[in-house]
Amino acid sequence: MPNSSAGSTKARTTFIALLTAVFFALFAQITFAQVGDAERGKRAWRAECRSCHTVDQNYLGPKHRGVLGRRVGKIKGFNFSPALSKSTLVWDAELLNRWLADPEQVVKGQWMGYRIDSAQTRADLVAYLATLK
Ligand code: HEC
Repeated sequence: MPNSSAGSTKARTTFIALLTAVFFALFAQITFAQVGDAERGKRAWRAECRSCHTVDQNYLGPKHRGVLGRRVGKIKGFNFSPALSKSTLVWDAELLNRWLADPEQVVKGQWMGYRIDSAQTRADLVAYLATLK
């Protein structure tokens, strides 16, 4: 009965699509549950990032203004690791969040030896970085 088997394949496909949708909805919840606060992020940035980064000048790390939407590892005048300068990624909120959690997971061989364990602090930092246009 070719028809009924086609029917059940369709039902199965729909079911899998539904499961996938539920999975991504849950995943998004887990990943983006934290709503960032730019004011808190500014304080965290001063405490956590300023030893190596400034807003407008390259220092031990590249300057931060305009980082959202910028291509990874491309600021002129900063000596990026070969790994970062070869990257074709673009900084968005999700990528920044992952970078701050574990830079090495994002670009293997990068040179930023620093991590932020708190998901809330990462969300705050990303909210602050988004204000540096
Ligand atoms: C110990 C020094 C140090 C600290 C602290 C540090 N960074 Fe970095 N950061 C670096 C270095 C060095 C690089 C360049 C890495 C490379 O070239 O592989 C970098 C690169 C970056 C980049 C990539 C920029 C680009 O244009 O591609 C971002 C984004 C970033 N850091 C954000 C942060 C944030 C936010 C904090 C604070 C939570 C922070 N960093 C703390 C040293 C540091």
